[in-house]
Amino acid sequence: MADTQSFDLVIIGSGPGGYVCAIKAAQLGLSVAVVEKRATYGGTCLNVGCIPSKALLHASEMFDEAHHAFPALGIKAEPTLDLPAMLAHKDKTVKANVDGVAFLFKKNKITGITGTGKITAPGSVEVTTAEGATQTLQARSICIATGSEVAGIPGVPLEFDGKTIVSSDHAIALEKVPQTMVVVGGGVIGLELGSVWGRLGAKVTVVEFLDKILGPMDADVSTQFQKMLARQGMEFKLGAKVTGVATSGSGARVTYEPVQGGEAQTLEADVVLVATGRRAFTDGLGLESVGVKTDERGRVEIDTHFATNVPGIYAIGDVVKGPMLAHKAEDEGIALAEQLAGQAGHVNYEVIPSVVYTAPEVASVGRTEEELKAAGVEYTVGKFPFSANGRARAMLHTDGFVKFLADKATDRVLGCHIVGFGAGEMIHEAAVLMEFGGSSEDLGRTCHAHPTMSEAVREAALATFAKPIHS
Ligand code: NAI
Repeated sequence: MADTQSFDLVIIGSGPGGYVCAIKAAQLGLSVAVVEKRATYGGTCLNVGCIPSKALLHASEMFDEAHHAFPALGIKAEPTLDLPAMLAHKDKTVKANVDGVAFLFKKNKITGITGTGKITAPGSVEVTTAEGATQTLQARSICIATGSEVAGIPGVPLEFDGKTIVSSDHAIALEKVPQTMVVVGGGVIGLELGSVWGRLGAKVTVVEFLDKILGPMDADVSTQFQKMLARQGMEFKLGAKVTGVATSGSGARVTYEPVQGGEAQTLEADVVLVATGRRAFTDGLGLESVGVKTDERGRVEIDTHFATNVPGIYAIGDVVKGPMLAHKAEDEGIALAEQLAGQAGHVNYEVIPSVVYTAPEVASVGRTEEELKAAGVEYTVGKFPFSANGRARAMLHTDGFVKFLADKATDRVLGCHIVGFGAGEMIHEAAVLMEFGGSSEDLGRTCHAHPTMSEAVREAALATFAKPIHS
């Protein structure tokens, strides 16, 4: 390989932001290189995040259903856990996905380069391999798509040993089911991975600083959802600030203080999962030396066109502001590629769905009721429970509801929140509606196949502007 290669676009990082940006840019005729320090493409999402966790969530949900739902469906079975096989399923799923990205790179003639990228000057990226060899890439444009890393707990020293004190990276690969697990942080990662190990037999206690789980979600949703998780055996300590996590005997000890004041408490567990958020990852990128500005949270500052303050250097995904979601990064990647190819790329940040892949799932798009109240927007609410939906009854998935929020004057849908089986699929009905500026009446008058769970979405829309039929 020549010492210097030139490209229209060099992307650092091959997660959903970087690899999708690369494919779109290549489709639009740009020459593209992607620099990735991991041995496989796909970043956190494909290697240690979304994809492996979904494999375990699905498998553990099946295990749980076989125990708890099969008898009521007239099926007799005695399921037993084969954890190594379940982990092998997860690994196979990851491999299929990361290999898929490598295939797409080849198909689109994208140059993948394994090594750590550093911006040495605008238009210049130095790549260092694990063995220490270096090469320089020349680029008309550089895209930083280096993602995020586990943030830990500010002010609390943590030593992740991967066995007793773990992050999400380790919690997808525990070699045995812990008897007890404390999850620090009642956010998305804590509830998803806590659900996995809870279903496989661990007694899970979630310690959360706020007085609700899933902090940014609609309060209606998080209150109902917490009750559902509690029925599944998950325990909650809310309004509890974790101030210490340390190994103790064969497990670990968590110390927390009630936020309202009061004595410090401790919890012992075989495994403590720390899931208190992620932070932008920019280590070793050379941002300071080339003068790329970051904000107070270490995120790369960008304008509305993903441009940093240094001409020719762009950034997308978890490393910039906004929700740390794979699909937000993907959409930014597509929009940036379009802009670099002379087209009008755009991301509508008002319509970014968010899904928690627990059982039942939680999904949301647009504004919450609390946000509308705070903004002084007058709104109407329409709700419909899955307990009144025929298909949900047939499948024993009657937990949960659909909730729409619409502008009181115009009926334009401003938000949709769903707790229920398949919520993560159904939410897109609301997302498409909102992308087109649709009203609850538009959806309520759209014929829906019967019997489907989606009929509850339509009924909730009907409830927003008129009355539902089935409740
Ligand atoms: P998060 O921000 O969703 O939740 C962290 C929670 O920890 C918050 O509720 C916070 O109040 C709590 N916390 C912080 N310090 C604490 C302390 N000292 N004591 C007790 N509680 C404390 O972060 P999480 O779950 O780690 O996820 C990281 C990122 O990854 C998020 O942006 C999330 O959206 C994303 N993600 C998304 C997924 C999805 O869309 N399904 C799946 C997994 C991650």
